[in-house]
Amino acid sequence: MLFKDRVAIVTGGGQGIGKAISLKLAGEGADVAVVDINPELSGQAAKEIEALGRRAIALKADVGDFNGAEKMVGDVLAGLGGLHILINNAGITRDRLLLRMTEEDWDIVLNVNLKGAFNCTKAAVRVMSKNRYGRIVNVASIVGLTGNPGQANYSASKAGLIGFTKTVAREFAGRNITCNAVAPGFIDTAMTKSMPEAYREALTSRIPIERLGTPGDVAEGVSFLASDRAGYITGHVLSINGGMFM
Ligand SMILES: NC(=O)c1ccc[n+]([C@@H]2O[C@H](COP(=O)([O-])OP(=O)(O)OC[C@H]3O[C@@H](n4cnc5c(N)ncnc54)[C@H](O)[C@@H]3O)[C@@H](O)[C@H]2O)c1
Repeated sequence: MLFKDRVAIVTGGGQGIGKAISLKLAGEGADVAVVDINPELSGQAAKEIEALGRRAIALKADVGDFNGAEKMVGDVLAGLGGLHILINNAGITRDRLLLRMTEEDWDIVLNVNLKGAFNCTKAAVRVMSKNRYGRIVNVASIVGLTGNPGQANYSASKAGLIGFTKTVAREFAGRNITCNAVAPGFIDTAMTKSMPEAYREALTSRIPIERLGTPGDVAEGVSFLASDRAGYITGHVLSINGGMFM
């Protein structure tokens, strides 16, 4: 069991990649706090974790709310008795070409995807610093490395998350806290389901492994970086993209 006696927070853990990460960590022995803005989704994920024989709590929180994130970490400590792993996974898109992108499109995406990671990390590292142990994994994106038309807000948030990851890695390495990121390519979830079929096909033809990724593909990489096996890896960005960008 990779995560025996470990407590993990997974933000946006109610569906898609976050749910796959929650179930993967639980399957390897972790107790999991599933944090999501949608309580129905997080409640269902928590039930599935309990069915694996682990403890789980579902917490309704908006990661973009600074005080809410601090309260959320307090609730995890009260509910599960510790905190070892933080997965900053919650993320949203508001795609539009820059000329049509509104200030609101920009602000909401940056607030959830980037400030959300700041809020949750700031609250969590206090506890991790005291305990001199922590594993933080941020879910960035291939487009944070490459850019993508229609995603100025999203790609900036994910590029920002990579800079944030490296800084947290440097600031907390001495406390035995590692901080890494994964940069998934195109993963088959609700976020990508809305793409027109022709676009999906064109996209797939650019992926050397010739398929979109699955949430499970991402969960494997996250689980490794969250484990003690990755104890000498920090500030790293792990691409999980089927070879689409090397
Ligand atoms: N799907 C992809 O192709 C892909 C590729 C690269 C990176 N990512 C990243 O992976 C992460 C998960 O993506 P997904 O495809 O599973 O998305 P998804 O939309 O399927 O799931 C996102 C989850 O986050 C929750 N959420 C949204 N806003 C929140 C908030 N403010 N506070 C708390 N929870 C919130 C949602 O309720 C949902 O359960 C995101 O950060 C996304 O940017 C996805």
